[in-house]
Amino acid sequence: MEIVTYPDPILTKKAEPVEHIDQDIQDLIENMGEMMYRASGIGLAANQVGVAKQVFVYDLRYRERGRNLNVLINPTIVLAEENIDFEEGCLSVPDFLAKTTRRKYIKAKGLDRDGKPIDIEAEDLLAICIQHEIDHLNGTLILDHVSHLKRDLYKRRIRKLMKRDA
Ligand code: NI
Repeated sequence: MEIVTYPDPILTKKAEPVEHIDQDIQDLIENMGEMMYRASGIGLAANQVGVAKQVFVYDLRYRERGRNLNVLINPTIVLAEENIDFEEGCLSVPDFLAKTTRRKYIKAKGLDRDGKPIDIEAEDLLAICIQHEIDHLNGTLILDHVSHLKRDLYKRRIRKLMKRDA
């Protein structure tokens, strides 16, 4: 397993809901966690590792507090309030930062890795992270949050790199 990067088409596809939380899903979660920590990310969605399923993992404070892998399966945002401006990066969009406007407070729900329903209240960085990961599961990237001009410049840069590496 590797982290998939733009312009891989799986990143712009909507992920399917998880129907059965079986051993494959547990293995997927473990692998995603490992890859997220290895890449020094704070969140990772399943389509970023090539699996179009509605699963993401996140852990904001492992550097200070040790690892505590959080999982959300089939997530939805049920409440979103106020705006916050931020500058976001993404493991699937290397060397790019996007100025985004996110909601500052959210409530999200979904399932944990045992299939138990969970509600999450989040603000600031955690709220931004959850919105970013749910974007992934909907096939949306930080590139979709910037101007056409900025996006085209990035696309051109990536195309050039791919040509060079080919
Ligand atoms: Ni991302």
